[in-house]
Amino acid sequence: MVCLGNICRSPLAEGILKNKLPKNNFRVDSAGTAGYHIGRAPDIRSIKIAAQNGIDISNQKARKFIPDDFDRFDKIFAMDSSILNHIKKMAQTSNDLTKVGLLLVNEDVPDPYYGNINSFKKIYHLIDRACEELSDKLQKMQS
Ligand code: 4NP
Repeated sequence: MVCLGNICRSPLAEGILKNKLPKNNFRVDSAGTAGYHIGRAPDIRSIKIAAQNGIDISNQKARKFIPDDFDRFDKIFAMDSSILNHIKKMAQTSNDLTKVGLLLVNEDVPDPYYGNINSFKKIYHLIDRACEELSDKLQKMQS
């Protein structure tokens, strides 16, 4: 799960998807294309909205997306189209490119950083809906 700062959207996506998948069978992680917040915990508003939905993301630490992530993961989901373009430029093989897509398929998860708590509520529900579908799909692929 990849966004810009790895403190608002992708930590939510990581926490929500992890919560929907069976433990131990999948590795879910998140990263940002920018390094502004490396090592920091998620934005307090993301922590809060996740907690209100029974998910603890407070132990996550921001990191930067690196080319090695193409080898470590089978699927890479960008939160918006500018992140998608950035990741595509980092791809080194055509196989790398096949792994990358938008979490919402044909819609962006809007950047909530300069918004208010309602922006975080809105993205929580967008991400939750997408992760519900994704979790079903991944578990079917595995069985
Ligand atoms: P995120 O949100 O990409 O969802 O983590 C942002 C976090 C920080 C900044 C922008 C977006 N920033 O400009 O510092």
